[in-house]
Amino acid sequence: MKPAAVFLGLACVVLAPGALGKTVEIRKAVVVKKTVAVKKTPVVKKTVAAKKATPAPSPSSPKLAQAKKVQPAPVSAPAAPDKAYDERELIRMPSPARLALRAEMRDRMAALDAVLQRMRDGQVVEAGQIAQIRLGVALWGNHSRLPQAAQPEQYMPPKMLTLALDGYKAASEFATVALTGDQHTATAMLPQLTGSCAQCHEAYRIR
Ligand code: HEC
Repeated sequence: MKPAAVFLGLACVVLAPGALGKTVEIRKAVVVKKTVAVKKTPVVKKTVAAKKATPAPSPSSPKLAQAKKVQPAPVSAPAAPDKAYDERELIRMPSPARLALRAEMRDRMAALDAVLQRMRDGQVVEAGQIAQIRLGVALWGNHSRLPQAAQPEQYMPPKMLTLALDGYKAASEFATVALTGDQHTATAMLPQLTGSCAQCHEAYRIR
């Protein structure tokens, strides 16, 4: 038992350093290889990829930079009033009258829009009601409720007044037909209504 134990002990002592040394070497080699492999490949790839990735969007980013540089240029100049040649006859009237006319015009535009929407939906009678109340001859003289200086009609030449009255009449004629529910005839009369708007706008301005 004793010699065998000694032999085993010696064997362990002799073998152990070699075995330990080998394992340490292997571990070191593996560790070094792994760390080198891990450190080299991802770092290099990452830096290269990052460097390559940045030039890729760079052509678009200078464009954006250029666009940003170009955009403020026209804005930096103050907005100047339009002085382009305008062949429409200028009708002079004080500011309150101009504002009143334009306010009425905007309501007429909205009313016309409402009329067209009802016609599209087949609500012909409703379209007629809107035209009667907001576009027709019932509006004639409505401005007399305004202060004297804000009444546009007094500044309008006779031809313009005729066009104004024609516009109200066209709306009332459309309304009369639409109120009967005759969609076909009412639709056929719409261009007469919109044509009155266009005719006056082509001829006159107030500013
Ligand atoms: C009798 C002439 C006349 C008729 C008819 C007429 N307009 Fe006008 N409208 C004018 C004038 C004048 C201006 C102001 C133009 C200017 O700015 O110099 C104007 C301006 C407008 C404006 C711009 C308002 C604003 O805020 O500047 C609208 C919208 C408009 N009209 C809609 C209509 C519609 C819709 C009709 C028909 C249903 C119509 N107009 C019929 C003379 C007319």
